Amino acid sequence: MLQVRWMRRVAVLSVAVFILLVIASVSLPDPNANQAAARHGSRTDVDFAQKQFLDFMHGEAPNMKGQFGGSISSHFDPKAAFKRVHSRALQMSKQQYNREDIAELCRRARANLIAHSLLFEKSELLDKLSLDETTKESVQTELKSIVGSVTSNLYPWLEWKDVQTAVKKFQSVEPAKEAGIILSVGKSYFPLAIHAIRTLREVLNCSLPIEIHHAGPELTTQMIEIFNTMPNVSTIDLYDHFPENSHDNLVGFYSKPFALLASSFRKPIIMDADVLFLQDPARAILNASLSFHQHGQTFFRDRTLTNQFFESWFAYYPLMIARKFGYRVPSPAVRWFRALDEYPSLYALSSESRYLMARSHHEMESGVVALDKGRPDVLHALLLVCKLNSRVEREAVLAQYTNGDKETFWMAWELLRVPYKFNPGFSGMIGYSGGNMWLTKEHTCGQLVHADQDLQPLCNFSVTPRWNGGILKDKFVSRRNVFPFEKYAIDSEGYMEGWDWTWKWSLKAEHAHVLWLGWTGQSACFRPRNVGKDLRDLSERQKEMTARYTDMYFEILDWFDKLVQV
Ligand SMILES: *[C@@H]1O[C@H](CO)[C@@H](O)[C@H](O)[C@H]1NC(C)=O
Ligand SMILES: *[C@@H]1O[C@H](CO)[C@@H](O)[C@H](O)[C@H]1NC(C)=O
Ligand SMILES: *[C@@H]1O[C@H](CO)[C@@H](O)[C@H](O)[C@H]1NC(C)=O
Ligand SMILES: *[C@@H]1O[C@H](CO)[C@@H](O)[C@H](O)[C@H]1NC(C)=O
Repeated sequence: MLQVRWMRRVAVLSVAVFILLVIASVSLPDPNANQAAARHGSRTDVDFAQKQFLDFMHGEAPNMKGQFGGSISSHFDPKAAFKRVHSRALQMSKQQYNREDIAELCRRARANLIAHSLLFEKSELLDKLSLDETTKESVQTELKSIVGSVTSNLYPWLEWKDVQTAVKKFQSVEPAKEAGIILSVGKSYFPLAIHAIRTLREVLNCSLPIEIHHAGPELTTQMIEIFNTMPNVSTIDLYDHFPENSHDNLVGFYSKPFALLASSFRKPIIMDADVLFLQDPARAILNASLSFHQHGQTFFRDRTLTNQFFESWFAYYPLMIARKFGYRVPSPAVRWFRALDEYPSLYALSSESRYLMARSHHEMESGVVALDKGRPDVLHALLLVCKLNSRVEREAVLAQYTNGDKETFWMAWELLRVPYKFNPGFSGMIGYSGGNMWLTKEHTCGQLVHADQDLQPLCNFSVTPRWNGGILKDKFVSRRNVFPFEKYAIDSEGYMEGWDWTWKWSLKAEHAHVLWLGWTGQSACFRPRNVGKDLRDLSERQKEMTARYTDMYFEILDWFDKLVQV
């Protein structure tokens, strides 16, 4: 009797929450509506004018196929748009701004990019604005002053005089600095970094030079010496590349964009120390990634997950039911980004992207990011990523919404209207075939895996073994438990429906690697929509590789134990 009453209460509560959520989702602005309005040219604010002008500079035209931004209608008047954009930029360049105002930061970053492009990259466009000679000259002087003051105001820690000097430097690096790998590490990642280097060199035959980045005392002098004795490995102290008053920006994963900037490579690939590749990244990323060739960036997607608990635990089931009826309820983070990115690119609204549509509350995984810093638009976007991850901005705003640095990459590209694309595949799982006492259907459980251009497994984002607390003297927690690598599945659609990302409990000893997570017995699993097609065996060669990685890992642990005893 009591049970029935409770069930009834829960049911009533769920229905009520469901109705509230539906109302909330319906009353939210539809990004498509903005885009439609945008195409009709009814917007007059400076943000829209900037985005239109950027789309125009990228060569977009009305009804053109394959547009990235898609804001240019047949009414678009470049002269009027420029006038609005330019007068606001001049005004901005003379005023300070409130650093917690991220919309104003982005406005200034766009003004900087527009001025930079008109001065150095697309100077022929100035002629299209039918300015007479004297006006053109004075406009150029103004553009120079905008670039100078906005750059020093937003990026006071920039090592170079201005962005153009940096671009020129990266465009003319010596061949040995053309491309390379960055590992950004602290003390607790030291054995994993050694492991990553050895897998690249000894298993994948990757000969790219490697830079180890650290922020001052994050690595001991002994560790630095060990790295420096390895062939084609060098260490970089980020403290040497940024002024002292900006060192508080260089903390943990927030320092990754700064490492990308400080790297001497024109085309750096930054990887987390716990990433293992199954293919040589020189070939699979630098040579084969289409977005790298087209846009100078390679971004990998995170798995498709709605942040079930963003409101409260009991909202989970109503949210799931809402999804079944096609309502995707945006999290606070998505709502924040929608307000910031009021005129999103067509790409952000396409089936390629999930975030703005609340199809997934995670979009990007930044365990591996590759950039071409010889491209000015890429460098401008990277600078904005650095700014978004700086202490003031992240503590005041970003930390509430972005789960560390990961989403800030694509967001900066999107907000700056610089064309970008994600690598194919919506990530997947690599590991063993699930089927424990709670799992009746076939899953693959283990670690997150990302695909190459052809949806083949490329790299494995593993979970870092936890330390017992203190640095160096302590042992790993259950570090010798590894699971077999036999299967993988990659999500090719990016919809939750039919693709099942779960956490499963397992009591089997061989699954105890998950102790590394600190959540005893829980492991991440994935079931693709079409198990017969998408749940695949690793090839014998791939299995051999992962077995060697495991052996190598144990060897390094033994070596490291002896090292720390000395
Ligand atoms: C690396 O080189 C060795 C020796 O030349 C070769 O046996 C191995 O297959 C190569 N590995 C890869 C991934 O190409
Ligand atoms: C070191 O770099 C040079 C030139 O970039 C290359 O020829 C060589 O194979 C590399 N050595 C290793 C061990 O990767
Ligand atoms: C790089 O890609 C091109 C085609 O895009 C191919 O012809 C070439 O062999 C590739 N180089 C390497 C080293 O894989
Ligand atoms: C994934 O990471 C784990 C833990 O570091 C490692 O044991 C395993 O070999 C990796 N898998 C692959 C496919 O590289």
